[in-house]
Amino acid sequence: MNEILIDHTDGVMTITLNRVEKKNSISRPMYAAMADALVQAEADVAVRVVVFQGHETIFSAGNDIADFLDLPSASEESPVWRFLRAISAFPKPIVAAVCGPAVGIGTTMLLHCDLVYAGDNAAFSMPFVNLGVCPEAGSSLLVPQMMGYQRAAQALLLGEPFMAEAAMEIGLVNRVVPPAEANAVAQIQARKLASKPMRSLMETKRLMKKAQASSVAERMAEEGALFARMLAEPASHEAFTAFMEKRKPDFSTF
Ligand code: COA
Repeated sequence: MNEILIDHTDGVMTITLNRVEKKNSISRPMYAAMADALVQAEADVAVRVVVFQGHETIFSAGNDIADFLDLPSASEESPVWRFLRAISAFPKPIVAAVCGPAVGIGTTMLLHCDLVYAGDNAAFSMPFVNLGVCPEAGSSLLVPQMMGYQRAAQALLLGEPFMAEAAMEIGLVNRVVPPAEANAVAQIQARKLASKPMRSLMETKRLMKKAQASSVAERMAEEGALFARMLAEPASHEAFTAFMEKRKPDFSTF
């Protein structure tokens, strides 16, 4: 079955994570498909808005951990890099509908979306430290800016999850709705955006992001290089092996 579904209706490209049996964890081919879709959406004048959505019970468990154990390429042409570059610099509006767990990149990709609608079952987490790696997608810069340093430390150092209402309070989420309604609400908002003048939308997004654009790109590059190095270190190997073996990691010697 196709693990990334792409639909194009009424000026809205909808990208659905569709690997529910693996909690919508994102494998390299899935990153590649999403990166290709964003490149196509940017070039195609018929696409005015992009929507990301998952399942009512799960948005995404983040990067596929088996892929992490494989030591993915750190090249800027690797699928995850192409996806992060495409979403962070995407010039048209992006709307997300998030229900259930949104782990790792499942949360950090939302920092690059314009409007986020969450089911009341949404649980956001960035457990990079617990996995022996470091933040990615510009989150080490954007998360403290968004929620303040101490709350960012709770999310990024302790790796504690936060729920939909808290995410709305800190500004990561626009509205909390029943999970069964989240995808529909995102579609309604996307269609509202799609009916507006495209140049105004794109210039407004560009202007709002302008002050940050180069520092976000620079931070993403620094995080990406460090993340790749840390994937080859023993702490992350222990964390990922423990996950696959369904046991608690033992960091006592790292
Ligand atoms: N990569 C690969 N497989 C994953 C995965 C991931 N990130 N997350 C879940 N899965 C797989 C599990 O191994 C399991 O596979 P199996 O049925 O073959 O054993 C299946 O998806 C169901 O996961 P499970 O953990 O049993 O579901 P749950 O409902 O108890 O918990 C989560 C859901 C999302 C809370 C939990 O799966 C989780 O914490 N995943 C890892 C998140 C993570 O650390 N991601 C990396 C971020 S950088």
